Amino acid sequence: MNNIQPADRINQVEEYYFSIKLKELDKLRKEGKPIINLGIGNPDMAPAPEVIEEITQQSQVETNHGYQSYVGIPELREAFSSWYERYYSVKTDANTEILPLMGSKEGIMHITLAFLNPGDGVLVPNPGYPTYASASKIAQATLIPYNLDENNGWLPNLDELEKQDLSNVKLMWINYPNMPTGANASISFFEKVIAFGKKHNIVICNDNPYSFILNDSPQSILSIEGAKDIAIELNSLSKSHNMAGWRVGAAFSNPTFIQYILRVKSNMDSGMFKPLQLAAVKALQLNSNWYSAVNEEYKQRRVLVQEIMDILECTYDTNQTGMFVWARIPDKYKDSGELSDKILYGVDVFITPGLIFGETGKRYIRISLCTKQEVLIEAKERIEKIIKQ
Ligand SMILES: Cc1ncc(COP(=O)(O)O)c(C=O)c1O
Repeated sequence: MNNIQPADRINQVEEYYFSIKLKELDKLRKEGKPIINLGIGNPDMAPAPEVIEEITQQSQVETNHGYQSYVGIPELREAFSSWYERYYSVKTDANTEILPLMGSKEGIMHITLAFLNPGDGVLVPNPGYPTYASASKIAQATLIPYNLDENNGWLPNLDELEKQDLSNVKLMWINYPNMPTGANASISFFEKVIAFGKKHNIVICNDNPYSFILNDSPQSILSIEGAKDIAIELNSLSKSHNMAGWRVGAAFSNPTFIQYILRVKSNMDSGMFKPLQLAAVKALQLNSNWYSAVNEEYKQRRVLVQEIMDILECTYDTNQTGMFVWARIPDKYKDSGELSDKILYGVDVFITPGLIFGETGKRYIRISLCTKQEVLIEAKERIEKIIKQ
């Protein structure tokens, strides 16, 4: 038809794993397979009723349908600022230190483009959320994966990293509470990583969408004295408020860094639908009962998921945070892909193989808590059958 080749930069990345996998699951469903998807962290519970009520009402207002400000409406920035003060004890200036985003995922791309020149070094966790690496590849940055190890609480070994030449490194991604491992970071780790960033002139970016899920004390890296000088934090309403499809998040940092990110973002979109922003304000104003009620359900689901892991003879830490259970597979399987395929093609249940998060995830699987209890029970019965065969 034509001889057009795509840009080199897209030859470096593949379509997102879940984008491909969801198509496959859809195809299997169309062929009549009763697929249960325990893979993706897509909250199935509804947002709070007052949030739905607000977007419904605001959508009726004639003047609410135009383009919106590139920096979000002031009410939304103020609500994010109060939320950070109330739950993380972090003070931020709503005018200069917060940039609302369409989810934290877009923030990962904007930050990458705002800070990295082609060839600049970027530290990304292995295992880790695949978007850090793919955004870096799109920007033609030099990817420097760093290993997270179960024996080190899934934290980066900063002493080891310091032995490397870091002169070319400009940005480091961290993500605590961590996905996929469910590990939490301590304040003393945050202090160390901030000192590390300052010493080596590396921007530290903490991606923090899971701090309200199965976690007794939500923490922000910005609670460390002076952190804002070198750190950016991404946060999101996707998981904490069951609003993944709404696409609302924010970046928090010093005014200069926020301006750099805005320079990219304001050239890419033209603001968020105003009723959605006003409804997000309501979500951010919810009191702690909201989080407790959501977590009550996740706790019950976690028991069922742990039972599935037991049937699979997988081992796991019972203190994980976030909306997944991450577990080590038995030695008898070649890797987590083999176990995931056995369950998918054997009993139509999809479980995420840890290898998609990097080489160090090869011997782990991840099950999401975003599935109703009755469906988890059905999945458990099916898995029991295939394992006992
Ligand atoms: C670690 C991590 N960061 C970011 C995201 C994206 O979240 P959002 O919906 O806010 O874009 C996810 C979603 O699964 C995630 O697991």
